[in-house]
Amino acid sequence: MNDVSPQRTVDPRFAQGAAYSQGRFVPMAEATISVLDFGFTRADSCYDVVHVKDGAFFRLPDHLARFAASMQKRRLAPPEDLAGMEAILHRVTWLTGLSDVYVAMVAIRGRPKPGLPRLIANCDNHFVAYALPWIDVLSPEIQARGGHLWIASIPRIPDASLDPTAKNYNWMDLNRGLMEAQDAGFDTTVLCDAEGLVTEGPGFNVFVVKGSTVSTSGHGVLQGITRKTVLELAPELGLTPRVGDITRAELEDADEVFLATTAGGVMPISRINTRITNNDSPGPISRRMKELYWAAHTRIQWRTPVRGDSIQE
Ligand SMILES: Cc1ncc(COP(=O)(O)O)c(C=O)c1O
Repeated sequence: MNDVSPQRTVDPRFAQGAAYSQGRFVPMAEATISVLDFGFTRADSCYDVVHVKDGAFFRLPDHLARFAASMQKRRLAPPEDLAGMEAILHRVTWLTGLSDVYVAMVAIRGRPKPGLPRLIANCDNHFVAYALPWIDVLSPEIQARGGHLWIASIPRIPDASLDPTAKNYNWMDLNRGLMEAQDAGFDTTVLCDAEGLVTEGPGFNVFVVKGSTVSTSGHGVLQGITRKTVLELAPELGLTPRVGDITRAELEDADEVFLATTAGGVMPISRINTRITNNDSPGPISRRMKELYWAAHTRIQWRTPVRGDSIQE
């Protein structure tokens, strides 16, 4: 077993990212899908993102299990099995030579085989994976001052229409929220459902701190692996984790708010619409949770070192 090591010679073509596409390992810029693919024309796909920190995947089995569930919910079945997909994730990551990496896996509908009716059942599903240099949803500078969170005016697509637990690219409601946030001079956005209950934002779950309770929404959201980690770590900080409804008023009245995502970890918020919290800076509980989250990356049960020998080419 080989750990990712800076000493090894890395093919420079992979330094900006490596991908697995159409059965081949290629530099990121060479990974393509057809413009006729239903993944493109209908957002008919599902995906997952896991990060690699200091040469090890964080909670890889959890991400793979969620990806398998997403594929099943969306009736996507690429030819690779889960073990094969895992080997591919190791390989694309290894090829970059990086030790802090954003690693994506995507199952895509494909397009109907020639001569057959345009039915999803007649499509050749396929699997794509790629590894990119580290990505943060909010930049480290914004995380340090606390993000400015805009509560979007438009509701999140209802769960009954689109199951948010199958991680997907149907982002137009989230994108509209982002456009509002951008117009109002905010960093990012959170959407409420039609009843005014808090859901999630573009690429993250939302946590509200009130007293010693940290709450996150139980419906209308992806069951984030970072969210799960925060809920598991909360008792170590003397906090009570809670999964349940959060009203918009509770969000606006929170002691602290933080966001949770693989692409950035625990990200403190310092402004919620016009309200400024904690002297316009990250609150103490958010800071401690952020520290604990990153410290927990050394826990052996959550680390899977990147292997260079997962696939022989
Ligand atoms: C809509 C949405 N919610 C929540 C999350 C956070 O999930 P995780 O912590 O597993 O990255 C993501 C991650 O990309 C997301 O896209």
